[in-house]
Amino acid sequence: MATSAEVSPFSGFRARAEALDREDGLRHLRDEFHIPTKADVKRNTLLAGDRSNDAHVDETTPCTYLCGNSLGVQPKRTAARIQQYLATWATQGVQGHFKPLEDSPLPTWLDADHRAAKMMAPIVGAEETEVAVMQTLTANLHLLMSAFYRPNPNGRHKIILESKAFPSDHFAVLSQIRHHGLSPETSMVTIESPFAEDPIISTYDIQALISKHAADTALILLPGIQYYTGQLLDIPTITAYARKHGIFIIWDLAHAAGNVTLSLHDWDVDAAVWCTYKYLNGGPGCIGGAFVHSRNSLITTPVLDGEPEPEQSYGHRLSGWWGNEKGTRFQMETKFHPAKGAAGFQISNPSVLDITSLCASLELFELAGGMAPLREKSKRLTAFLEECLAQMSEDAKKLFRTITPSDPNQRGSQLSLLLMDGLLDVTMHGLQEHGIIVDERKPNVVRVAPAPIYNNFNDCVAFVEAFETSLVAAQAAKLNK
Ligand SMILES: Cc1ncc(COP(=O)(O)O)c(C=O)c1O
Repeated sequence: MATSAEVSPFSGFRARAEALDREDGLRHLRDEFHIPTKADVKRNTLLAGDRSNDAHVDETTPCTYLCGNSLGVQPKRTAARIQQYLATWATQGVQGHFKPLEDSPLPTWLDADHRAAKMMAPIVGAEETEVAVMQTLTANLHLLMSAFYRPNPNGRHKIILESKAFPSDHFAVLSQIRHHGLSPETSMVTIESPFAEDPIISTYDIQALISKHAADTALILLPGIQYYTGQLLDIPTITAYARKHGIFIIWDLAHAAGNVTLSLHDWDVDAAVWCTYKYLNGGPGCIGGAFVHSRNSLITTPVLDGEPEPEQSYGHRLSGWWGNEKGTRFQMETKFHPAKGAAGFQISNPSVLDITSLCASLELFELAGGMAPLREKSKRLTAFLEECLAQMSEDAKKLFRTITPSDPNQRGSQLSLLLMDGLLDVTMHGLQEHGIIVDERKPNVVRVAPAPIYNNFNDCVAFVEAFETSLVAAQAAKLNK
């Protein structure tokens, strides 16, 4: 990076970033989060230990955290809410399930899942009853596929997914196909990008593949945002196309929930799953989310007690007591009465610890005024990041290219930077040395995601300055080998 004696090529950007940060109507939200300090991210101990040199800049300067695509940072209020949850448990024991406490902001544990679904619904553009906060992403994918993938070996049996799907989605599809006694060779169809060096898949290519396999495809699984490239797929258009061909479509919204505006109900999406530890800041491995369009959770005849199974009934669900309606759940009957909507897909009583952690962060989405203002800021942040990257020296720019679409409507906050071979490790090391937290995806991609709820324009400049230095150093190291 430039020393104080030199003028950084980014000084103009710094000044602009400071002005943009001052004018940002959401800037107060950054203070709601623990952003690790530069010293924190370098330390190999849990606690700071001797803080006698607290005045040292690294002890107080936040690192540049641009990794909400992997794990969101911790809201400060998470600790307070968890403390309230612990106090409820400590003072009330089992009564915490049913007994509201006058001075507590938390619901009873019995109502915790319902409140979480209510807070989550506007984030994904769903009706309250279409969302369940439960399990984890891949587990929810299996639950939804168990309910909605009903292959007929002589009719519709194929599942379409992208060839570069997140491995967990790939494994889930493989195992579902095998679970039904079918072979992935004949029942699994993958969408390839036509250009190996450009992994973006167009809506046209997806539609063409759907048309080709329409007659025997039972299900499509696609990512709202592709984890490697950061491409935001055209969810409404692809959903409409799948539905026109009578194919059930599930969206993996791991990288889209809390990142872009979604209207799952209005877009007629069949079903979706997501996790809450990325842009939703629930904490590592936190409870997941599922959407089931209201038309797909209609309850027809009870079936779990030896009665015949009507098509489209809830009988195909894998069921457990928490999916039973609340009114009769504790009567301990063995006749299953599913709760209305997505809640009827729940199985076990959820971890209230997880839900408490998640809802602490969802409070901040409410404070932000919902997804629309966040998305508006996000588009400006990512465009600014892109502009800063374009300001890098020509020598540095030759060493990478951005593979995320440049159209803001075809991406969320993340930019994926594809480095030339042999530069990733040294570049990532250099970034860490500068207190920059981003993540890598092998073989050659650095993912950078300014999350509008806590990142600012200055973070974008800090990243690009350090990226240029680290990339050039990586190239020098490669040439000297
Ligand atoms: C796109 C995508 N799908 C699925 C998963 C798996 O999620 P989980 O481990 O919560 O099941 C992830 C995790 O990062 C992901 O990014």
